[in-house]
Amino acid sequence: MKHLAILGSTGSIGESTLRIVETYPERFTVVSLAAGRNVEAAFAQCQRWRPRVVSMADEPFAEALQARLRAAGITGIELVYGTAGTVRVATVPEANFVVSAIVGVAGLEATYAAIMAGKPVGIANKECMVAAGEILMQAARQRNVTLLPIDSEHNAVHQCMRGGAPQEVRSIWLTASGGPFRTLPLENFADITVEQALKHPTWVMGQRITIDSATMLNKGLEVIEACRLFDVPAAAVKVSVHPQSTIHSLVQFVDGSILAQLSVTDMRLPILYALTYPERVESNLTFDMSSLAKLEFFPPDFARFPCLRLAYEAAEAGGEHCIALNAADEIAVEAFLQKRISFPAIPRTIEQVLRQTPHRRPSTISEVLQADASAREIARSVLAAG
Ligand SMILES: NC(=O)c1ccc[n+]([C@@H]2O[C@H](COP(=O)([O-])OP(=O)(O)OC[C@H]3O[C@@H](n4cnc5c(N)ncnc54)[C@H](OP(=O)(O)O)[C@@H]3O)[C@@H](O)[C@H]2O)c1
Repeated sequence: MKHLAILGSTGSIGESTLRIVETYPERFTVVSLAAGRNVEAAFAQCQRWRPRVVSMADEPFAEALQARLRAAGITGIELVYGTAGTVRVATVPEANFVVSAIVGVAGLEATYAAIMAGKPVGIANKECMVAAGEILMQAARQRNVTLLPIDSEHNAVHQCMRGGAPQEVRSIWLTASGGPFRTLPLENFADITVEQALKHPTWVMGQRITIDSATMLNKGLEVIEACRLFDVPAAAVKVSVHPQSTIHSLVQFVDGSILAQLSVTDMRLPILYALTYPERVESNLTFDMSSLAKLEFFPPDFARFPCLRLAYEAAEAGGEHCIALNAADEIAVEAFLQKRISFPAIPRTIEQVLRQTPHRRPSTISEVLQADASAREIARSVLAAG
C-alpha cells in the first residue's frame, strides 16, 4: 500500500493524482496534503480524504481552512502553513511516497526534505529540478532514493530508458506540441492576448505552464530537467515539434535504435506509472491507434521562440543561469498574466536578467533560494525600467 503525501494537491497534477487514488483505493491512501491559497478546494479534499496533515501557503489561509473544518465538525487534522508546513507534509512518517507538484520553487524545500527523509518522490515540479536538480539528484543518490518523473516527456524517457543501459544512450528527443502559436507569423506576436496564450492545443494545465508552453520556455525547462534527471549534457537533449502530442518522447541508443513512448494525452497515466513503478497496472487510459494516422515532426523555430534558445544557453552555463532562467520567467509570466507586459517581453526580460547573472554554482538549497531571490529582484527592476 502506498501512503501518499501530495504537494500541490489543489493543482492540476494534484487533482489528477487524487483521481488515481480514487480509482485504485486498494493501492493508495492519502496521508498529507499541501495546498496554496485555494481554501475551498483544500476543504473539499479534507472532507473527502481526511488526511492526517494539511498545509496552506500562509497562516491566514490555514486559519480560514481551520474555521471551515470546525464549522463542518471535522477534527483530527493537523493544520500547518508556509515552507515549514510543506516540509511537514513531505516528511510525515506514515507517508511512503511523495508527489511533488507545487508550482515553482515554493516546492523546493519540501521536495529536498522528502529525499533527505528517504522517501521516493514522483516529481512533477520541474522548476525545482531546473533550479536545484544537481543538489536533488546528489541527495537522492546518497540516500538511495528513487526520483520518478511525472512530467509526461521525462516519464516517457524513463520508460524508454528501460530498453537499454544509460551508457548506451546517444540522445534524448523531447517532443513539443509547439503551443498555440506554432504557425502564427512572427509579426503578430506583439498582439498575442493572455486569453489566446492560455488556450493550449492538446493539454489542460495550470496557468504558468500553459504560458510557458506558448513561449516554449516550458520545453527549455524540460531540456534542463532531462539533463539533471538522466545525467546527460544539453547537447544530447533535442527538441522536436510534434503538434499531435501522440509521442511523448524518444530515446536513441548508440546502435541507432530509437524507442518512443505513445499514450493518451492524460497526465493520470504518467502519474500512475510513477506511483506503481516498477509494476504496470491495468488502466482504462486506452490509446486510440487511429491517432497514428498522422504524426508530424518539425525542428523548433528558435527565432520565433527565443525562450528555447535562452534555455539551451542557460543549460550550457549551468548553476545560477538555470535558476535565473526560471525565476525571471516566473516574474515575466506573472506580469504578462496581469496584462502589464506583452508576450514578446517575456523572453526579452529573461534575456536581460540572464545577462546580469553571475557564473556561480550554488551548492546548498539556501544558496539556490538566495540566487532565486536575487534573479527575481533583477527581473522586477528590468520590468520597472520598461
Ligand atoms: N499540469 C500538467 O499537466 C503538468 C505537466 C507536467 C509538469 N507539470 C508541473 O507540475 C507542477 C504543478 O503544475 P500544475 O499544472 O498542477 O499547476 P497548478 O494547477 O497551478 O497547481 C499548482 C499547485 O501548487 C500550489 N501552490 C502554489 N503556490 C504554493 C505555495 N506557495 N505553497 C504551497 N502550495 C502552493 C497550488 O495551490 P492553490 O491552487 O491552492 O493555490 C496548487 O496546488 C509545475 O511545476 C508544472 O510545471 C504540470
